[in-house]
Amino acid sequence: MANASGFFSPSVSSWRRRMQPQIGIYRSGLLSPDGFSSRVFCSSTIQGPEKLSSGASPSESRVPRLVNKGCKLVGCGSAAPTLKVSNDDLAKIVDTSDEWISVRTGIRNRRVLSGKDSLTALAVEAARKALEMARVEPDDVDLVLMCTSTPEDLFGSAPQIQKALGCKRNPLAYDITAACSGFVLGLVSAACHIRGGGFQNVLVIGADSLSRYVDWTDRGTCILFGDAAGAVLLQACDSEEDGLFSFDLHSDGDGQRHLNATVKQNEMNDVVGSNGSVLGFPPRQSSYSCIQMNGKEVFRFAVRCVPQSIQSALEKAGLPRSSIDWLLLHQANQRIIDAVATRLEVPPERVISNLANYGNTSAASIPLALDEAVRSGKVKAGHTIATAGFGAGLTWGSAIVRWG
Ligand code: COA
Repeated sequence: MANASGFFSPSVSSWRRRMQPQIGIYRSGLLSPDGFSSRVFCSSTIQGPEKLSSGASPSESRVPRLVNKGCKLVGCGSAAPTLKVSNDDLAKIVDTSDEWISVRTGIRNRRVLSGKDSLTALAVEAARKALEMARVEPDDVDLVLMCTSTPEDLFGSAPQIQKALGCKRNPLAYDITAACSGFVLGLVSAACHIRGGGFQNVLVIGADSLSRYVDWTDRGTCILFGDAAGAVLLQACDSEEDGLFSFDLHSDGDGQRHLNATVKQNEMNDVVGSNGSVLGFPPRQSSYSCIQMNGKEVFRFAVRCVPQSIQSALEKAGLPRSSIDWLLLHQANQRIIDAVATRLEVPPERVISNLANYGNTSAASIPLALDEAVRSGKVKAGHTIATAGFGAGLTWGSAIVRWG
């Protein structure tokens, strides 16, 4: 079991002391009075084999920037497929009912990719909206983090999103895989890049299409999941304005048996001769199995670990529970959300929930719910949000952030 925790704010000097040089980052040698280099240079660029389509030179490094920065959430956006699947629709294909699903989960509808829809296109739409809200041009994005467990390219979707957004300066772009905790992990990673790497504008996208990996004959799982994308723009700011107060991250591989979609190996017959020579190709074929879940165990894990993690993050930030304006959890099950809120003594009117309309959209659920809450005027600039993701891995983590 591993865990990581953050103490970046409000004490700037404390995070300075904790900073270690990272790969690709080197100190300038200009030491400040507290012994920490005040200038850190970084070089990040995506290099094509030939001249880059944007015209940027592959060897051109990014402009060195000052670090010792804070970061804040300045934009959000979301997108969902148009096809809506109701509980009644599901009752036509598995032995279930609207009543059973809504009482046990709170879910009434979910959106599912169909026809020519693509997850990458949803992610691009969500990211565009976040950039518009933040009034940041695609060319000013330094990093695109695509948090997803269901990329449309096994090697990662983020560079495709970078291309579709028209980021001509070729910002670094890569995927993060951490299931339903992906977005929180992405948020913390983005903050580390800003604080330790000198990045200015980082797009954090959470997008998943678990409908592709659901067994639509299994009523225990197919009722839960939907597809969507959400995005936020995290921007460097003065350390006094820092909007990521603390975080708390965990993983436990032992719990993977309760929730997974592992590789299935189909051994081929008669491909290896008696002398060990290969007689046929491929020697074996692989594909991913559908989502396997022990719902009761996952439920128990979430209700036990998520309140502990949020409490721990609050303590690291030096904030009382009463300072939480909004509790924004991964939208897995209304009963999980209610149980966590009860344990943390957060009243229902300060809990954000939209899973009735979308189901569990994995890495997308937090930015999707945040986007709706911001655009509806619920979440306002200056509000403090306790957010937490949890899911397969097992992974879970929380962050205490300020919007705007
Ligand atoms: N419709 C009708 N009946 C169903 C059903 C469905 N969709 N799914 C299961 N059942 C039945 C079971 O077969 C069982 O019947 P039995 O008593 O005759 O054996 C009964 O309902 C109870 O099943 P159980 O699995 O114990 O239900 P539950 O109360 O644990 O609810 C979940 C199931 C999946 C809704 C719940 O466990 C859950 O939400 N867990 C968390 C899952 C999650 O959030 N995963 C993602 C995390 S990121």
